This record gives sequence, C-alpha cells and structure tokens, in this order.
Amino acid sequence: MSDSKVYPVSEELAATAHINNEKYLAMYEQSINDPDAFWGEEGKRLDWFKPYTKVKNTTFDPHNVDIRWFEDGTLNASYNCLDRHLETRGDQVAIIWEGDDPSDSENITYRDLHQRVCKFANALKARGVEKGDVVTLYMPMIPEAAVAMLACTRIGAVHSIVFGGFSPEALAARIEGAESKVVVTSNYSLRAGKSVPLKQNVDKALEHAAAKALVESVIVVKRVEQDVAWTDVDVWYEDLVAEASADCPAEEMEAEAPMFILYTSGSTGAPKGLKHTTGGYMVYAAMTHEYAFDYKEGDIYWCTADVGWVTGHSYIVYGPLANGGTSLMFEGVPSYPDNSRFGRVIEKHKVNQFYTAPTAIRALMQQGEDVLGDSDLSSLRILGSVGEPINPEAWEWYYRIIGQSRCPIVDTWWQTETGGMMILPLPGATAAKPGAASRPFFGVQPALLDADGNELEGATDGNLVIKDSWPGQSRSIWGDHERFIQTYFTTYKGYYTTGDGARRDEDGYYWITGRVDDVINVSGHRMGTAEVESALVAHPAVAEAAVVGYPHEVKGQGIYVYVTLQAGFEQSDELLKELRMHVRSEIGPIASPDLIQFAPGMPKTRSGKIMRRILRKIAEDDFDALGDTSTLADPSVVDDLIEHRMNRK
Ligand code: WTA
Repeated sequence: MSDSKVYPVSEELAATAHINNEKYLAMYEQSINDPDAFWGEEGKRLDWFKPYTKVKNTTFDPHNVDIRWFEDGTLNASYNCLDRHLETRGDQVAIIWEGDDPSDSENITYRDLHQRVCKFANALKARGVEKGDVVTLYMPMIPEAAVAMLACTRIGAVHSIVFGGFSPEALAARIEGAESKVVVTSNYSLRAGKSVPLKQNVDKALEHAAAKALVESVIVVKRVEQDVAWTDVDVWYEDLVAEASADCPAEEMEAEAPMFILYTSGSTGAPKGLKHTTGGYMVYAAMTHEYAFDYKEGDIYWCTADVGWVTGHSYIVYGPLANGGTSLMFEGVPSYPDNSRFGRVIEKHKVNQFYTAPTAIRALMQQGEDVLGDSDLSSLRILGSVGEPINPEAWEWYYRIIGQSRCPIVDTWWQTETGGMMILPLPGATAAKPGAASRPFFGVQPALLDADGNELEGATDGNLVIKDSWPGQSRSIWGDHERFIQTYFTTYKGYYTTGDGARRDEDGYYWITGRVDDVINVSGHRMGTAEVESALVAHPAVAEAAVVGYPHEVKGQGIYVYVTLQAGFEQSDELLKELRMHVRSEIGPIASPDLIQFAPGMPKTRSGKIMRRILRKIAEDDFDALGDTSTLADPSVVDDLIEHRMNRK
C-alpha cells in the first residue's frame, strides 16, 4: 500500500481542463497503440508549409539508431511562434519581460516581437550566417535572447545556447564543438543589482586559438551603459538592427532539419551537444506546454528557468509562443531586492501558471512562511516543478504557501535529451502524490529494468528506460552519432536509457529516485562528476580527485570533492580557496565544490579503480553501510577518510 498522501483532482479542473482522466486514458492508449494516427492528428497543431504524409519512422536498434518524425513535412519554428499569430493576436503580449530591477519591465506584443526577430534575422544574414550554420548565444535573460533564438530558427540557423553562468573555458569548448562562427552576447548582465562582465568572458574564450580561428563576429547587446573592451570581430547589436529590414520571410525547413544544439553533462567525457530537430520538437513542446499547465487563451504564464537550459528553450520560448501564449521572462533572482520577489512578480503581472525548481522552493522555505509578504497570489491556477526530485516537504510547502492549498502542482520529469516533459500529473486528470512525477505523457512508455536488462513488473524499483520514441526526442549528439548510440542505446538494447532510477508504486505512479550514473544534480543544474574531476586534476597541486554528490538542504545535492595532493604540496586554507576558484574558472560558479576533503589515498580496488560507492557513503555520512571493503587494495585508507570526513550530520 502506498502511504503517501493523495491530492485528488478538483471537480472544477476535471470538468474544465483540456484533459481529464477519462480523456487521458483513452488518448494514452491510442498514442501507444496507433502512434501514427495519434501524432498525425497532434502534428496539426502547427502550421506546415508542406504537410507531412509520414508520421513515425524510428528505431532504437543499437546498430542503427534512427529517429524521424513527420519527415516529409516542411515548416519553420519561428513562423509557428510568430507569423501565424499576427492576424489573430498581433496586439497580444507575447513576452512580458521583468528586469532585475523591479521598476524595469516591458510588454512585447506578437507584432513587436515579429519585427524585432525579422530585423535581427536579416542582421545575422548580413553577417554571413546561412542555413545550417551554428550561432552560439551567451546571453542574460533579456528579450534579445528570445529574439536571437527565433531569428536563428527563422533563417534555418542552428542555435547553441551556452548558459551565461559558464566560464570562458566552457564557452570556448562549446564554440569549438559546434564550429560556430558567430557569437551573440551582451556587454554586461545584471544580477541582483550588480553587473557581470559577460562580454569579457567571450573575449577570454576567444583567447583559445581554436575558438578564435572560428569566430568571425561577436554581436553585443548593450544591456548596461558601461564600456567594454572592443576587438575587430565585435559589433553592436543595436547598430546591426538599426539598419536591418523588417522583412524576412521564414525559411522552409524540413521536419528533421536541426533546430538547436544544447550541451549537457553526462557521466563520462566532455559535455555533449544534443541535437534537436524542428517538426517533432515543436509539436511536442507546444502540446506538453498546453496540457501540463492546462494553458488557455489569455493566461499569463511564468517559467523561472534560464534560456541556457532546456526548460528555457521548451517552456519559456518555443512551447508558449507556438501556443500563442503570454510568457513571462525574468532577468533577476528570487532574493532581490528581497525574498518576496517571486510573489511580487506574480502579483504585478497576474501570473496564472508558475513553473519553477525545487531548489528555489527550498530556498524560500528557509525564509519562513511569510516570505512572500502580502503579495496577492490569487491569480495563480497551476504550479509546476522541474529539474530534480521534489521532496514531499518542499512539495507541501509549495502547495500551501504559494498554491494557497488550491493550485495543483505538476511535477514534471524530463531531460535535455527528451525535449519536453515525459512523466507528470496532468492537472485535470491525475491525482497528485507529493514527490511523484506520476504518469507518463502521451506516447511515452516508461519501463523499469534490473541490472541485467530484464523488464520488471508491478510495484518495484529499477533503472528507468523508455521503450519507444516520442516526437521531442533528441536525434543525435552533434557530430558524433556513435556517442549518442553508446550513451543512450547500448546499455539496455532496444531502449532509451535515461540515466535515472525510479520506483513504480501499486497505482503505477513513477517516483524518480535520482541519477544512477555519475551525474549529480546541484540546484537543478546537471553536472558530470568527471567534468569537475578533470578540472581539478588540471591544477598543479592535485594528483588525483574524486567527486561525488551528497544530500544538501537547499541545492538537493552538493558537490563533495576528495583530492590527493601531489608530493611537495601541503594542505592549507589557501589551497582550498584556490581549488574552488580553479573549478569556478574552468567550468563556472555552479560547479564550485561545497566540501573538499584532502585525502592521502583513495579507496581503490586491486586493479586501481576508485570505489565511488564508498566515497559516496562517506560523503553522505552513512559509513555504517559501507558494504564489503575487503576487495580494496588498502582497506586502511577508508578509516582515514571517515576520520576526516567533512559532512557530519
Ligand atoms: C533530473 C531538465 C526528478 C533527472 C529538464 C534528469 C528530475 C535530469 C525532474 C535532467 C523531476 C529533472 N523529478 N528528477 N521532476 N526533472 N530531473 O537535462 O535526474 O537539465 O535526468 O533537464 O534532471 O536534467 P536536464
């Protein structure tokens, strides 16, 4: 029996929502039994230049992973987000921009946005960008970020957004990986009243010879009236659009034409650029956005993600705008000018749907129940959660304090690779259990496998895999299809491997238990432990490094680092600080280690493999359950690690 609390669907929502339970069950069944008919119909939510006649053509066969949806149709993503709305809702607000400073906001109508996008699209063309070229965006949360995305897709260029919190090193690697000739950035970004020198990071990235050789133009938005160093590849955004024409027809793209690349971390190697294509991605983003949030005409919708992550792609820009919605874009942080900011923004813009991450909720929760002050939250209808498992305490707090015990919470499990939401409780259909992502979206067939790849039945724990393709799925890793196959389709043949573990309860609900690989999730940011380790060993003092996650009250997981120093180096506070700074400058502040333990030796097997299981247990302060350590080359190492552990509960 499940001991979890259950929050039933309200009668009102069951009666008025796009999808109620009956409809969910019937549609789900059709989506699995007859995907061609189901998606053939759903695909019509977009405008196609040339309608498709084929719907699904996909195989997970590891010799030949090949995923195509709507393959003989043609369309344009930017057209679907803009042009097709002009006649009916040209004067409707497409983007509400709320600046870092609460007195700074802007309403951009569909007509305005269309104009801005066309101008910038022409500007890109004038800088030599052609169909199929990759444009790197390294931008703050300003309207120009959405404009640049839509301008790229308008002319068939592929955008690759690099989160503004990544370091110059990380940016350089992504420019090189994508062979990008053009970078769009801003002179500074604003966070909590302070300006951050974004453009300077681009300059530093271009000190890398390979990136420098590639990049022909750096287009710089003037976010702040402040000088920046200037080079001969730099050009002001404002100058380019001032002279650009507002007439730019949308390029006719094949459904499977690449639309964007987004780099994400895995358990091994450098971050990989996941490739998403146009038709399937757009159908899936639009549909999931509409159903998950029960989005209706006129609703004001706010997703607090950054466009540097996949959530910002699908649920700030493409999904909401494809649906002709009003999407709020927030430049600031939840704690500025004070902790009531989320509430103030909800009140100011009368937000109906609010989509955020558990880490933000936990941070607010720490400030007490009156953290949002006297903000009027009565406009809210639906709440969403994404990025990491939401613990039941945070769920209850979110429900009570922000949702005023009346708004359903949609806990959405998905990944950069999946393009859109995969497992979630549809608000009019699925009774919620705090902490459960619950039931699969249409077309999604989750399964749980044991370590040998056997499918498990009934209520159980296992490795979460997906049995067949859905339209939003990533098609490949940019430039390395073999790696795509290796990473996702070889561990368990015939399935897409998610890298997550899950439990299924007796009602068939899925509860995501977290990553089963060497990926950790810090404040909803996905990070490969191998990446952090390789940054650390690049420091001259470090002989060896091992990185694991440990439970962190606000961040979900914190970064716990074990380092063995090179002979001749002494442990010191100075060195600790230096190692932290080093990781920040190699990857970015989000990868900054929370705890660093100097370890004279690592627990290794006789063949020299680090036993991470043991390191994880010590980091969790749970060393009674270390298991068998007799296979270690030197079991005494473990005693020292325990004695000097950094996390004592
Ligand atoms: C985790 C973010 C539990 C999961 C959209 C996944 C979640 C990884 C949830 C993907 C959720 C995301 N419940 N875990 N609702 N949402 N995750 O690629 O481990 O940045 O594999 O995509 O985040 O992170 P990514």
